Amino acid sequence: MQKQNKNPDQLPLRELDLVIDSMAFGGKGVARHDGKVFFVEDGIEGDVATVEVREETDRYNEARVISLKTPSPHRGPSPCPVSDRCGGCQWQGVPYAQQISWKKQFVVNALSRIGKLGESIEVETIPSPAVNSYRNRIFVRARIHPDGRLAVGYFRRGSRDFVEVSRCAIAVDRLNDFITRLENVSFKEHLESRDVKAEIKFRFEMQDIPARATTEPHILLSVYDPDDSTFPVDVIVKSLAAVQGVAWAGGPLDLPNAPFVEFETDLGVTFHTSAGLFQQVNIPDNHIVRRLVKEAVDEFKPPRILDLFCGSGNLSLPLADGTRSVDGIEFSKRSIMTANHNVASGKIPNANYTAGDTEKFLWRAAKSNERYDMVIADPPRAGMFKSLIPLVKLKPRHIIYVSCDPTTLSRDLSSLVKFGFEVKRFVALDFFPNTYHIESFVILERIPGHD
Ligand SMILES: C[S@@+](CC[C@H](N)C(=O)[O-])C[C@H]1O[C@@H](n2cnc3c(N)ncnc32)[C@H](O)[C@@H]1O
Repeated sequence: MQKQNKNPDQLPLRELDLVIDSMAFGGKGVARHDGKVFFVEDGIEGDVATVEVREETDRYNEARVISLKTPSPHRGPSPCPVSDRCGGCQWQGVPYAQQISWKKQFVVNALSRIGKLGESIEVETIPSPAVNSYRNRIFVRARIHPDGRLAVGYFRRGSRDFVEVSRCAIAVDRLNDFITRLENVSFKEHLESRDVKAEIKFRFEMQDIPARATTEPHILLSVYDPDDSTFPVDVIVKSLAAVQGVAWAGGPLDLPNAPFVEFETDLGVTFHTSAGLFQQVNIPDNHIVRRLVKEAVDEFKPPRILDLFCGSGNLSLPLADGTRSVDGIEFSKRSIMTANHNVASGKIPNANYTAGDTEKFLWRAAKSNERYDMVIADPPRAGMFKSLIPLVKLKPRHIIYVSCDPTTLSRDLSSLVKFGFEVKRFVALDFFPNTYHIESFVILERIPGHD
C-alpha cells in the first residue's frame, strides 16, 4: 500500500539509519534499505546518517538527514559559513574532482537509463575555470527590518526561511563588494513616516557588467514588488539606486524600458544586455561553449544556421558573416530586441532574430519546405520533446544541442537517434560548481541515407 507524507510540516513517517552509496541528479544522496531506494536530501555519498522519512510511495522514497553518524570522507571544510543552511550550493566543501566525477556519472546514467544509449557515447568533461566566485548575476531575497536595516540572503533549502548572507561564495567579487555596501542602506525614515511595524520582504536581482571598470557604475538591479503593498517598490528602487556602483535600478514597471548596456566583447562581437534579461551567469564557461559552437561551424561550414531558443544571440552572433546566415527564434521579446541591437550596433551581416515560439516556428518552416544546414538548440530544462518532429523535417545535417538537464536531453537524444542522427561529440561542462547542475554540449550528425 502506498503511504505518502508530502507536507513538510507534518511529522516524519519514521526515522532510519542509512548508508548513502551514490548521488542522484538533483543533488540528493541515494541509499538502499529493505529492498527500497531512498533519495536523501542533504546526504552525500559515503555518509552514514540518521534520516527522517518524508514520503514513501511504491516507486520511490524521500528522506532528509537529521544527523550524521559517520560523515562522508568527501565532506571537507566549506569556504561558506552558511552552506549547511542556504539553499544555493549543496556541495561546498566537496573536492572539485569528486563533484566532476558525480556530475559525469549523472550524464552517463541518464544517457543509458533514459536515453537507452548504452555506453556508446564517450562523455568528455570540461571543469569550470573557477570553482567559486563565478556567478555574475544573483537573485537574492531581502528583508527590511523594523529598525530600517536591510538584510540580503537566500531561502533555506526546501523552505521559505530566510538565511542572511554577508557574502556569497559563488558570486563574483564585485557582487560581494556591492553586498557589503548595502549594509549602509537604511530605510528608517521611510518606515517611521509610514508607521510600518513588521519586516518588509522583497527580492531583487543584481547583475555585474564586466565591460565596466569598478570605478564606473557597473551593477544592474531589478527589484520585485514587496509583500507589503503599502510600501512602494519605488522607495526601495530609489534607495538602492543611490548605492555606489549602481548603473541602473528599476521595478517591474520600469524593466520593459531598461536601457541596453554594453556587456562584453567576445569573438569579435560586442554583446549588450539590460536589467532582468536572461544571460549565462558563468562568463568564462559561456566563452568555452561559444568556442565549441564556433569550432563545429568552422569544421562543417553550414551555409544556413538556425538558432532555436536563441536568447539575445549569445551562441550565434559570432557565426554570421558574408558566407553564411543565421536565423534566431526566441520567446522573449526583450531578448530579441537585444539580439537585434547587437546586430545593428555591430553591423553584423546575415543575422535575423525573431520573437516567437519554437514549435510553431518549426512547423511553419517545415510546411514551407525550409532547409537549414545546422540547427543550434539551447532549450530550457523541459527540453525539445514535440518540437523534434518538425525540426527533423528541416533536414539539418548537424544539430548542436546545448542542455542544462541530462534527463530531458537523454530523452531527446534517444528520439534523434531514431530519426537517423548519431552523436559525434558529447561534452559535459560545469557551469555551476558546488551544485549538482551540469550543462551538456552535443553535436549530432545525420547519417547519410536518412532523408
Ligand atoms: C537556456 S536559455 C538559452 C538562451 C541563449 N541560447 C543563451 O545562450 O543565452 C533558453 C531560452 O529559451 C527561451 N524559450 C523558452 N521557451 C521557449 C519557446 N517555447 N520558444 C522559444 N523560446 C523559448 C527562453 O526565453 C530562454 O531565453
